[in-house]
Amino acid sequence: MSVLVPTMGALHKGHQALIKRARSMSQDVVVSIFVNPLQFESADDVAAYPRSPERDIQLATLAGATEVWMPDYEEIYPSQINPLKASAIGELYEGKSRPGHFDGVVTVVSRLFEIVKPEAAVFGEKDFQQLQIIRAMDSGVEIIGVPTVREFDGLALSSRNVRLSETGRVSANVIYRAMAAARLAPTIAIAQEIIDTTISTDTGFRCDYAAIIDEENFSLASDLTKHKRAIIAGWIDGVRLIDNMRMGA
Ligand code: PAF
Repeated sequence: MSVLVPTMGALHKGHQALIKRARSMSQDVVVSIFVNPLQFESADDVAAYPRSPERDIQLATLAGATEVWMPDYEEIYPSQINPLKASAIGELYEGKSRPGHFDGVVTVVSRLFEIVKPEAAVFGEKDFQQLQIIRAMDSGVEIIGVPTVREFDGLALSSRNVRLSETGRVSANVIYRAMAAARLAPTIAIAQEIIDTTISTDTGFRCDYAAIIDEENFSLASDLTKHKRAIIAGWIDGVRLIDNMRMGA
């Protein structure tokens, strides 16, 4: 069977974990690298997105990719774009801060699936909202989520981390610290308070949202029973960082 690992390049160990997982399932692992303009706010953001094609091919191959596919714009969007709409949770949290972002994601993922026709596709839990929205696409492709790979201090691996200043990099683990400290709290009110207090002590972090939600529909959780997750996003040094962690034991 063929397994697809969709990426936008600038690969790191987090992507390699996705590729390794795909390879554990199949001898036919396609890694796509396509910086999708539809999911960015502006043409400047698209242009500024880091690109390292040669290194990407090396890292993908080392992790077990059997094909690294770098389509150009015309291959993905040959004539006119048929824009798709993300499920309802696409309007919340990341979707609220980045209007149209998830519509762009489902549009490109649907094109990638159409062209590659994989039986399964692998995505990171780091972008948990994206993962749930892709699951809701009902594409007929099996969607596999892979746990977030973290730095030694808990910071989730991301292509954006290299843009952090030295001091920004030190404080960036505040997101992880907040979630880890709240994970085993006895009540949701206490968990939320721990998160809010931890992130407010870091003056370098400008919080966008810090919430505990139900994994299924992203409604605010009312307790910490099964399938509740902390989701946090904000900026350090103007770099947007997002992360999440399942709450409870
Ligand atoms: O997570 C990403 O890198 C992108 O959103 C994806 C899934 C490759 C779609 O462009």
